[in-house]
Amino acid sequence: MKQLTTSFLLAATLGAMTVGASAAEGKGTYDTACGVCHNAGVANAPKLGDKATWKDRIAKGKETLYTSALKGLNAMPAKGGNMSLSDADVKAAVDYMLSKSQ
Ligand code: HEC
Repeated sequence: MKQLTTSFLLAATLGAMTVGASAAEGKGTYDTACGVCHNAGVANAPKLGDKATWKDRIAKGKETLYTSALKGLNAMPAKGGNMSLSDADVKAAVDYMLSKSQ
């Protein structure tokens, strides 16, 4: 019985970690690869949490924003200049930015 309880707890903990990871991953990528410009608005980067600025960009549609982040836009290099990021990492970071900015 004790063994059963232990495996159940282990499974529950692993399950919770998996769910938490994707949300945390977007933030982690943002903090390391995007925040350097988007926290302070470097080169007119839309600031995290600046709802008025993000409103017009969000109106272009999420796919357009993903493409901008993946391929670059004006002063922003593709993937924020961090080519080691996967497309999924970049999209998760965009999702994180949008969740804080609308
Ligand atoms: C070197 C500075 C810099 C870094 C690093 C950077 N950005 Fe940007 N980002 C910008 C600038 C500048 C703009 C505004 C571009 C414009 O509209 O002319 C921008 C715009 C955007 C937009 C709006 C695009 C649109 O179509 O309106 C998104 C989304 C975005 N960045 C996501 C990210 C993500 C995700 C990362 C990290 C992977 C990142 N950025 C890293 C400078 C940066």
